[in-house]
Amino acid sequence: MKLILLGPPGAGKGTQCKRIIDRYGMTHLSSGDILRAERAAGSELGRKAQAYMDAGALAPDDLIIAMMIGAIKKAGGGYVLDGFPRTVAQAEALDAALARAGERIDGIVNLVIDDEIIMRRLTGRRSCPKCGAVYHVENLKPKVKGVCDKDGAKLVQRDDDKTDVVAHRLKTYHKQTAAVVGYYEGAGKEIITIDAAESPDEVTASIFAELDALNDQVG
Ligand code: AP5
Repeated sequence: MKLILLGPPGAGKGTQCKRIIDRYGMTHLSSGDILRAERAAGSELGRKAQAYMDAGALAPDDLIIAMMIGAIKKAGGGYVLDGFPRTVAQAEALDAALARAGERIDGIVNLVIDDEIIMRRLTGRRSCPKCGAVYHVENLKPKVKGVCDKDGAKLVQRDDDKTDVVAHRLKTYHKQTAAVVGYYEGAGKEIITIDAAESPDEVTASIFAELDALNDQVG
């Protein structure tokens, strides 16, 4: 399957994508994770994106489009897009690239949640710098405080999860990204809407119920 997972920052896209790829065996293509890896590697792309990410603003469309279309081509088979497209221009570029390749997106899932809950989730998020596993200081605790269950690495807080940056990311979402849902609706695409305020396992169960049916159709 080829999927897009939409939703505001902190809706649980990364958490749910990891579970989706485990169940359906696809590639997880997270624009944020790719940018953070580019930053860590000190690449030109990473350096160009840094100031935007630190401020909670979107990196320029041309950079992101080239990066993500390249990642999709490299992935080959099925994938789930996380954090892309995030503007209508990115959605149009994705449509054009898929049309050129004779491919299509099989499903679009939109995680819906209030800003207030997001603020609590993001300021309490801790991630593993080694494997990318995501935890929360209250909602999804690791077995040992501050340590990744999978590889024992010390968990870190993302720089853009500080309260003022989260507030800016939410503003950016409402101003620039929420319109992507309308873009797909206007194009007649069916959107699978999921209540993302439930517990992680409940959200997963709702997503799997929809994707199991879609997977049977796609074959
Ligand atoms: P990116 O990394 O994509 O960040 P984001 O979309 O803001 O999403 P997050 O990773 O913050 O949240 P998430 O929805 O994955 O939530 P998570 O599962 O971690 O982007 C970062 C930056 O890169 C952007 O600001 C921008 O600068 C740049 N960028 C990226 N893509 C771009 C693009 N296309 N165009 C331009 N610029 C781009 O969960 C959050 C927390 O909540 C965790 O602690 C988790 O444990 C907890 N949690 C998850 N689900 C639940 C639940 N159901 N109940 C309780 N807690 C939960």
